[in-house]
Amino acid sequence: MFIASVIYAPVFAKSITGSSPDGKIEVTIADTHSPSYSITLNKLPILTESKLGLRFKQVSELGEGFSIQAVKQVAHHSTWQQPWGERKQVVDHHNEILVTFVANHDAKRLFAVRFRVFNDGVGFRYEVPKQPGLDSHIDITNELTEFAIADTKDSTAWWIPSRGWNRYEYIYQTSALSSVDRVHTPFTFKLGNGAHVSIHEAALVDYASMTLQQMRGGVLKADLTPWSDGILVKKTADFTTPWRTIQVSEDAIGLLNSDLILNLNEPTTLADTSWIEPGKYVGIWWGMHIAENTWGSGEKHGATTAETKRYMDFAAEYGFDGVLVEGWNIGWDGDWYNNGDVFNFTQAYDDFDIKEITQHGLAKGVRLIGHHETSGNVTNYRNQMDDAFALYQKHGVRQVKTGYVADGGNIKQIDDQGIVRKEWHDGQFMVNEYLHNVKQAAKYQISINTHEPIKDTGLRRTYPNWISREGARGQEYNAWGSPPNPPEHLPILAFTRMLSGPMDFTPGTFDMGFKGLGADTDRPQTTLAKQLAMYVVIYSPIQMASDLPRNYEKNLEAFQFIQDVPVDWHESKAIAGEVGEYVAFARQERGGEDWFVGALTNEDPRKLSLALDFLDKNKTYEAQIYRDGDSANWINNPYDILIEKKHVQASDTLKIPMASSGGFAIRFKAL
Ligand code: NOJ
Ligand code: CA
Repeated sequence: MFIASVIYAPVFAKSITGSSPDGKIEVTIADTHSPSYSITLNKLPILTESKLGLRFKQVSELGEGFSIQAVKQVAHHSTWQQPWGERKQVVDHHNEILVTFVANHDAKRLFAVRFRVFNDGVGFRYEVPKQPGLDSHIDITNELTEFAIADTKDSTAWWIPSRGWNRYEYIYQTSALSSVDRVHTPFTFKLGNGAHVSIHEAALVDYASMTLQQMRGGVLKADLTPWSDGILVKKTADFTTPWRTIQVSEDAIGLLNSDLILNLNEPTTLADTSWIEPGKYVGIWWGMHIAENTWGSGEKHGATTAETKRYMDFAAEYGFDGVLVEGWNIGWDGDWYNNGDVFNFTQAYDDFDIKEITQHGLAKGVRLIGHHETSGNVTNYRNQMDDAFALYQKHGVRQVKTGYVADGGNIKQIDDQGIVRKEWHDGQFMVNEYLHNVKQAAKYQISINTHEPIKDTGLRRTYPNWISREGARGQEYNAWGSPPNPPEHLPILAFTRMLSGPMDFTPGTFDMGFKGLGADTDRPQTTLAKQLAMYVVIYSPIQMASDLPRNYEKNLEAFQFIQDVPVDWHESKAIAGEVGEYVAFARQERGGEDWFVGALTNEDPRKLSLALDFLDKNKTYEAQIYRDGDSANWINNPYDILIEKKHVQASDTLKIPMASSGGFAIRFKAL
């Protein structure tokens, strides 16, 4: 580790400029009008003068009328290891600038903003020490942070709306930046000068989620999701905010080859992480989404002892680690969307014997994956959480999928006084609730895969048992989404949602025609090869083979790729792509020598020229290629797949065609 420190205090300059280690990104912090910052890439403006500050209920704001009092700069270069992830070693190389602002007429009023400038972008957070008026309980009523986009002319943005009923599960919009209203982060856009930018946050802990609201003149302003009483954030004195992040790159894939969000999170304090198990799973799941089964009891009940054993046998035969079972616990009968009060997390339906099932599975090396659907009634869940985890731990369960199906703003909590309050999924209350769940789970050596989650902000570094989450439209929308996910969905997702962290997308639909093919049906709007490519493109340390076993048994040749593909990586590189168009990743398995490539495209067919320079120069590999057949297209011929093998080396280039909404998946087996 290299740390050098330069301290200047006090300063009288009206601005201070710091740069990234490679000098390409510069940040200038100033107090010319009020505290502000601006960012350039290769001397071209990315963000112009953008305000900084916080407003409170109890005292006047920290912002206007404040000037720079002191500046401290530190260079940092270190490497740290992830227990699981896209890469084993992560480099944290940045220059830090800590700027203290003091009120012009009251030296006791102050706040600091800590900037970190990396080669792939900038992060900053507020640090507010105890001071008169801010010495106990504090209510934040406005965060003044701005992101003033340098030039919105000829820009393009990819976004989903915030504060809507459907949380994060929207089809992405592509538009000029100027037509954006209020959006979730990661918010990705391309400027007229070619720079790619994504605004997000890191280490969202005990604070409201930041969404962005467009103001006059291309200024995006922090818009924090409120509590049910209208307050944005409730803190006690001496606090810091999450990091506000601006990833900046000359090209689209630069956004993907970035560890900025993880680097701004705290290291874990868990001494033993050996119980956190990346892995592949199947589950009693898709059958409910395509209405072949039900979560609730009755003739079509999916979660029976016999059916679960059948899945466990299938899992064992094809090398899967777990079987997810939804609908085994009491509470699903009737309108489960609106009946969160009646979920019981320890009582099984009569036709489900958890002991028999888990013993059957463990004897074959397959674990049950637990499920806790809350339907947004988080108090009912909290009251049972410890018992629920204890039961699962007793039966060898190491992973639980949680669910918070409720409309935005409709999470039900019963507060200390017994009053029912309705909260947002991304307000401070739920930010804390989701983390509480993950921390409690750790006590039982259980990892959590959150559905209807709070967005990811890199907390897996601190809490590595937060193993995955949903937080966007996943495969389930292809069962009933009306409309399902369009062909451009994944090439947008890769550059937006996926910047925040792993996603439990649940790929691997082999039967696209469960309601018939065609363009207007609920079904995956992809080819089969694209379904395989997702296992490499959409990163998650847990990956589901989400279709019914019978559909895999009908096509074991293509299924082989899902069996072979790892979920944990030594190294990952985005090697080609444009937002919304196409994307390709190369990843090397952890603890082995094989490489894997996944590439996928939107509705436009295209040929990708794949230089194999990521391979070891001294080795020969067998490339096992799964690609679209020559007459494949997603609308009426999605199954046309060509599986071929050839010997290749690092000096080779493969030219591989992708069909309309197609893709390819390759295993490079080291010989
Ligand atoms: C929504 C989740 O995303 C889905 O995977 C699950 O099956 C249902 N909720 C039921 O919990
Ligand atoms: Ca969902």
